[in-house]
Amino acid sequence: MSSSKILITPSILSCNLTRLQEEVDTISSADWLQVDVMDGHFVPNLSFGAAVVKNLKTKLPLDIHLMVSNPLERLKEFFAVGAKHITFHAEAVTDTADREEIIAHIRKGGAGAGIAINPGTPISAIDDVIGDVDLVLVMSVHPGFSGQSFIPEVLEKVKALRKVHPELMIQMDGGIDALTAKDCKRAGANNLVAASYIFNAQDRKAAIEALRSA
Ligand code: DX5
Repeated sequence: MSSSKILITPSILSCNLTRLQEEVDTISSADWLQVDVMDGHFVPNLSFGAAVVKNLKTKLPLDIHLMVSNPLERLKEFFAVGAKHITFHAEAVTDTADREEIIAHIRKGGAGAGIAINPGTPISAIDDVIGDVDLVLVMSVHPGFSGQSFIPEVLEKVKALRKVHPELMIQMDGGIDALTAKDCKRAGANNLVAASYIFNAQDRKAAIEALRSA
């Protein structure tokens, strides 16, 4: 299994957006950078779109987590800012043909395609496209807000996925800190997203390292 290399993905959701460039400069030892896009409809919160990262200078690949009801309509703006990975929610797009269309569009735009599942969604809900995606995001909180508590029950889904898909990129997101990161890794996750744990830390490099070596 490809768990030897753990990717750490800070989410800018809980950084100080008035100083975004400075904030992002403090996490250069991470692997990816996540942009959490919320539409106030799929989730009960609004965040930002591609404009917020348009002029950002970073070597980290941009990982876009689309918490939106209509992901197809939002892809273009993220291709324009050079997104490397784009993940949409299984609950937002339930039809297999629609999912395939979005995955094909993401690839055509030069990015890797991911599908996300909420804590209450079983892994069987993504059986139809699991062979076509580059990443599965298993949410460990109900999406919408940073700073929530980790839901340990989702670890069973990660274990089950890892058993059947030894090479799959399994990302987890929500309530991840140095303690919960250990459980995530043990279950088989190899990409950990954290917002508050990293951006609330005085020493971001140390926080990233703590997740990496958890
Ligand atoms: C959940 C977002 C997460 C969230 C994680 O709505 O998708 O990325 O910001 O925040 P923490 O790490 O604070 O739980």
